[in-house]
Amino acid sequence: MAACQTEKEEINFPKTDLSNMPMIPKPLKTIPTGSAFGLDAGTAIYTSTTDPAFEKVGRFLSENIKSKTGLELGVNSSSEAKLERLIYINQSDSVDLETPESYQLYIKKDSILLNAKTAAGAFRGIQTLQQLIPTKSNDTLTDHPLWVIPSGKITDAPKYGYRSSMLDVARHFFTVDEVKKYIDALAYYKFNTLHLHLSDDQGWRIEIKSWPKLTEVGGASEVGGGEGGFYTQEEYKDIVAYAADRHITVVPEIDMPGHTNSASLSYPFLHYAGAETPRVRTDMKVGYSSFDAQKDTVYSFLDDVIGEIAAISPGPYFHIGGDESHVTKKSDYILFVEKVEKIVQKHNKRMVGWDEIAQADIDSKSIVQLWNSADNALKAADNGSKLIVSPAKKAYLDMKYDSISEFGLHWAGYIPVDVGYNWDPETYVEGISKENILGIEAPLWSETISNGTELEYLAFPRIIGYAELGWSPSDHLDWEDYKVRLAAQVPYLEAMQINYYPSKLVDWNKE
Ligand code: ACM
Repeated sequence: MAACQTEKEEINFPKTDLSNMPMIPKPLKTIPTGSAFGLDAGTAIYTSTTDPAFEKVGRFLSENIKSKTGLELGVNSSSEAKLERLIYINQSDSVDLETPESYQLYIKKDSILLNAKTAAGAFRGIQTLQQLIPTKSNDTLTDHPLWVIPSGKITDAPKYGYRSSMLDVARHFFTVDEVKKYIDALAYYKFNTLHLHLSDDQGWRIEIKSWPKLTEVGGASEVGGGEGGFYTQEEYKDIVAYAADRHITVVPEIDMPGHTNSASLSYPFLHYAGAETPRVRTDMKVGYSSFDAQKDTVYSFLDDVIGEIAAISPGPYFHIGGDESHVTKKSDYILFVEKVEKIVQKHNKRMVGWDEIAQADIDSKSIVQLWNSADNALKAADNGSKLIVSPAKKAYLDMKYDSISEFGLHWAGYIPVDVGYNWDPETYVEGISKENILGIEAPLWSETISNGTELEYLAFPRIIGYAELGWSPSDHLDWEDYKVRLAAQVPYLEAMQINYYPSKLVDWNKE
């Protein structure tokens, strides 16, 4: 790095204001210093080398800078003869970095220093940096293009350690590339979890080697009569690894004992006598299917299924669904949840389930996902279980925006962009407070969408608001301030070719 002591030209930057930049989620603390860092071909990226994951974060930044600006910045390459400016991604054990995802960003005239305890923190930090790089270079300040990044200091940490979106790949199947494109956008807005709803009445989407008919039979259908599809275990592992490269954990869900028509169609011994006879289902009804909670063979089947998926899911969680088992007798439902929890734990995972599972006597380490019932959420909190907050009325991405928008349903109401943003997980249910909450999730059910373009129409721009609800402190949440920053996401959304709903509530920054 001593090589960088070449003659530096003094650039007279126009006055900048870091605190006025359209960052989402809004950082915890931003202190502007009025000057700027000029990103150009003379910039190099260096990282701590004690942890190879930091160098990987540096390469990720370099690649993204290249696709945004065309600049090719070396990472830890010592032969930078014309090095003038430095971005340093530093592993730091500072006590000020309280959570694994905390980071500090110091932007000065000649250097950018990013401090983080873990590579995950560094990864969140480079998303902030990427959001500060303008789309257009400044070509007037010096004899070459310069991307002007406002100077100052950002100190940042997430409100919740679990910030997630769910994708229902069961009602309609989405390809690996469609899922990866969604992961890219989630990463940009600092999500750290992707929940995949891998099975439902209309389709089974993950290869289980010991039970091949699940995909051969159960995978060949979807809502509306399309051909369905499924991920081989190799494809699923590819999604998991792609997410992990972006410090995003995949939470696999096999929904049961209800929502299991496609499984029971594949293996009729699973079928519960009180449920509707399995057949190929392409409609949107719910609540008519169930596994038989009384049969030992059902649990040995589930031991195989959960075991195979757990083995290729490095994250700590396994989601068992548990919602809308309307034809399962309550005593059978409770028996089922308690037995499946043991299987999940045997495979070294923590059980997650939709809020109905709180009716069973579950382990306090199991996690309850509030989607519908405040009573169930309170039961979970009483039990000492943490909650994932995703109320249908506020956080379901498949609810229509308004009466004129395309796609989506409205059984939980319309969710315009402001309504999706204007609520606080911490005060949503009386009696539930921050210490009961693991985090927030925005689920996207796919009854009415069948490709990436339609997926994006429902998810964007609302998912960007849930990113802020999950990350930023409650006193930073302000619709008037947020909507201006949201409007400024257009260059990113356009560059990524993301099909967002141009809600009239936002004055979009279009050319
Ligand atoms: C759900 O929406 N049935 C969890």
